[in-house]
Amino acid sequence: MNNAQKIDYIRRHLPKALVFIGMMGAGKTTQGRKIAEILGFEFFDSDIEIEADENRLVKDIFKQNGEAHFRHLEKTKIAEILNRGRSVISVGGGAVTSPETLSSILSNAICLWVDAPVEVLAARTAGTGTRPLLNGSNPEEALTERMVQRRHLYGQAHIRIDGSDSPDEVSAIAVGQIYDYLLKEKQ
Ligand code: S3P
Repeated sequence: MNNAQKIDYIRRHLPKALVFIGMMGAGKTTQGRKIAEILGFEFFDSDIEIEADENRLVKDIFKQNGEAHFRHLEKTKIAEILNRGRSVISVGGGAVTSPETLSSILSNAICLWVDAPVEVLAARTAGTGTRPLLNGSNPEEALTERMVQRRHLYGQAHIRIDGSDSPDEVSAIAVGQIYDYLLKEKQ
């Protein structure tokens, strides 16, 4: 089957939403947008919606109200997005640290972990200033620490995608992996 046929198959047979999880800088939002466009589904991003609802940036929510408050907003927002049905969703890197959110994603969606080595994550997030957890003196160390804490959570995803390459290469491989997953689930 060629790529176009695989895309058509996914469009017709995808039973639920696709949710992208993974570390900051892995490319979840980029891939989510691309895959949504390729499949012709709506795209939602939890961080973007939280910022719009709150009328302030994620980094300001962290600064003004702390991480625990952000996690509360994030959990509520993801539950709301998952209720919208078949779509493509990308969630913030720490969303999976809520056991309730992770189990809801795993049961209501097909979950894709976009994985990449810490050096790649560090290079992609360097200098952006938008991620409150990386604004300390050693972002690479902060990424390594969170990766160690979260790897077993990300590892529960139905599909693991290597996000190290260019966005076009990653999305082409992702399409193949989603197709293979749907076929395997059918058996
Ligand atoms: C976070 C990741 C960020 C954002 C917040 C916290 C995390 O989203 O939700 O800064 O805990 O990993 P991205 O993964 O989209 O950068």
